[in-house]
Amino acid sequence: MRSRSALPPGPSMPSALQMAGFWTRPLAFLERCRDRYGKRFTIRLPATPPFVMVSDPEEIKQVFTAPPDVLRPGEGARVLEPLVGRNSVLLLDEDAHMEQRKLMLPAFHGERMERLTGLMEEVTAEEVAAIPRDRPLALHPRTQELTLKIILRAVFGLDPGPRFDALCARLGEMLEFGDKPISLLPPKPESRIAQAAERVGPFARFLRIQEEVDEIIFGLIAERRAEGGDRVDILAILLEASHEDGSPMSEQEIRDELMTLLIAGHETTATTLAWAFQQLVRERAVLDRLVAEIDAGEDDAYLTATIRETLRHRPVLPNVAPRFVAKQVAVGDWTYEPGCALVANAYLVHHDAEIYPEPYAFRPERFLDSSPGTYSWIPFGGGRRRCLGASFAMLELKVVFRALLGSCELRDCGEGIEVAQRRNITVRPVRGARVVLGDRERVPVAG
Ligand code: HEM
Repeated sequence: MRSRSALPPGPSMPSALQMAGFWTRPLAFLERCRDRYGKRFTIRLPATPPFVMVSDPEEIKQVFTAPPDVLRPGEGARVLEPLVGRNSVLLLDEDAHMEQRKLMLPAFHGERMERLTGLMEEVTAEEVAAIPRDRPLALHPRTQELTLKIILRAVFGLDPGPRFDALCARLGEMLEFGDKPISLLPPKPESRIAQAAERVGPFARFLRIQEEVDEIIFGLIAERRAEGGDRVDILAILLEASHEDGSPMSEQEIRDELMTLLIAGHETTATTLAWAFQQLVRERAVLDRLVAEIDAGEDDAYLTATIRETLRHRPVLPNVAPRFVAKQVAVGDWTYEPGCALVANAYLVHHDAEIYPEPYAFRPERFLDSSPGTYSWIPFGGGRRRCLGASFAMLELKVVFRALLGSCELRDCGEGIEVAQRRNITVRPVRGARVVLGDRERVPVAG
């Protein structure tokens, strides 16, 4: 078929109304558009170029594998710059992106990850023990606290103590600004508003917290550079990393990438855990099988499948980072010109009945005998931007599942299924994954 230019059809209502649908009913809005316009459609939101949602695996492949100077995700993440700094791998494109990515890659190799298991288990055991029992509670705030602590220990390499507590508290406040990135948009430099915004208001408050956070992080980096030693955390590997010309990463680069890993790795993992447990509480057969496997302690095939199914069923980033079209590109039957962005839609491809029969059912068994497809299972995105922390996240999710289901009984609190609510770019269970945890009477394994 001949390639067409212009853009695939999509809703024609005003952009403010499209925004309202996209924001308040994030998943239902996508489904409605697909029902009406098919596997690719264009949505128009205020103050951004048109977004073309693609959900056909072949088109997703073309988006993920396009040359780096043709599709550029970096500029779409600019709004995060106040949090992650300008060296962040999230904000860069082309060679600069690949250079930072290469510096970070060794930290995420499988064997390196394995060495973090003990640390993750220690933090998780403490946090799980502290969750109140036998009353309804929202698990999401708990999983957020847990994943923040895991990042501070395993990525920043902080030991428990006053500095850990101070950073934990300050970062908690700073991350609240990340929920409303618009509040971080500094006004035009040198304007009168900009000068005022640096003294009062949310941006000024943010700057003050950021200063305190930076002081702690730069202090930590200097200390660790001086001390050397043999630590297993990710900071240790960044301190050893060198650019192609042999120079080490600068203090600012290390700070920016530590903050990047925090922003990319904290909320995503916490929300995946929240979705998993609010789903499991309603899936008795899955839960029983999972608990039996965890108790037997021999294999983790069903656990892996359950995590993959959670990420399929509720990908926390339903719209993988938009790729801005910088040069004309053909994807499927369409030719796209600069001025729009292509979005691989994880939620829609994960709910395509031709790929996943009964897509709305939660069935880990789908992943027991077959591995997920590279372009049809995309909770971690793909291509040269694929999530750097995917193996870290899988390890962390497994540690938390084992600790929580090994020691607690998960009970429904009778409040019904939770729909998805958007919070910035992630979607989470609207009431924070409310469940009841009880202490488990563990039956000793025979033999
Ligand atoms: C369940 C948990 C997680 C999910 C669902 C997730 C998902 C994603 C997605 C969709 C992307 C964008 C990929 C693309 O554009 O193709 C991404 C990028 C990234 N993620 Fe994750 N992530 C998770 C956990 C983590 C963790 C734990 C870390 C680090 C400790 C991390 C670090 C990163 C980084 C650094 C990038 C940017 C990669 C680049 O631009 O080259 N993520 N993640």
